[in-house]
Amino acid sequence: MPDTDAVKEAKKFYEDVPAKTPGFFLKGAGSLDWGMKNRLARIFNPNSGRTVMFAIDHGYFQGPTTGLERIDLTIVPLMYHADAIMLTRGILRTTVPPSLTKPVVMRCSGGPSILKELSNEELAVDIEDAIRMNVSAITLQVFIGGEFETRSVHNMTRLVDMGLRYGIPTMAVTAVGKDMVRDARYFRLACRICAELGAQIIKTYYVPEGFETITASCPVPIVMAGGKKIPVLDALTMAYNAIQQGASGVDMGRNIFQSDAPEAMMKVIGKVVHEDMKPQDAYELYETLKNEAEKS
Ligand code: R5P
Repeated sequence: MPDTDAVKEAKKFYEDVPAKTPGFFLKGAGSLDWGMKNRLARIFNPNSGRTVMFAIDHGYFQGPTTGLERIDLTIVPLMYHADAIMLTRGILRTTVPPSLTKPVVMRCSGGPSILKELSNEELAVDIEDAIRMNVSAITLQVFIGGEFETRSVHNMTRLVDMGLRYGIPTMAVTAVGKDMVRDARYFRLACRICAELGAQIIKTYYVPEGFETITASCPVPIVMAGGKKIPVLDALTMAYNAIQQGASGVDMGRNIFQSDAPEAMMKVIGKVVHEDMKPQDAYELYETLKNEAEKS
């Protein structure tokens, strides 16, 4: 039976009681194997328990979207300032120097373009190729409530099984259909389904009301998705709030590479994520770094 109870007060999320993490610093990872933990510890900083992941995989269904026209020229230099990079195998193999030692989170689903129904995805990478490219995690979209919901969930469970075979964590991205309501109730449902069915990391969107109930009711780390470009201070505030409300990091793309000063933006997001820097302080630092970059 679907949970029809929308009243937050009726539920006990114990948002202020962190989940215990016996044996490892990341929520839900204590019973995983050594290789899986080691890969997670490359993505998530073991000191802060958090990550700044840089999402540049948009081309897998959008083509050369704004800011990603020339990844070699404008994006590769930014990768050195991220904790992890999320991208397709095509861009990794063609454009990213193999000397870059940042952990790779590889996009493993695909199929429809923006011209078609996006939930109609299939797995699009063989696990052997992911291993060959030394990835630290594999990732795909999961369309809870979407037209091809079951297919995308099945894609995820197959990817989780392949990843478990070789010690590679799977990050499930909760994709929301155009007509669906983006609220805490929906994301609690989507995140919990992905975690229950085996994903070791969940990427999901921030919601202003009740985000802490999403992180509290999800037994694995959540990283906040960035979404469309918004003003710098708003993006920093959103990242700050997500972290304070239990997210284990962010996975942002457009709010970094479409900003006026992408390197400065990446650096200050790092301060917000790892050092709990307040949004206004981070914004002022962003302006300072941006001005310095313009002068040099
Ligand atoms: C989902 O469609 C992909 O992972 C996106 O490419 C990624 O989430 C986009 O990041 P952002 O919304 O921060 O640009």
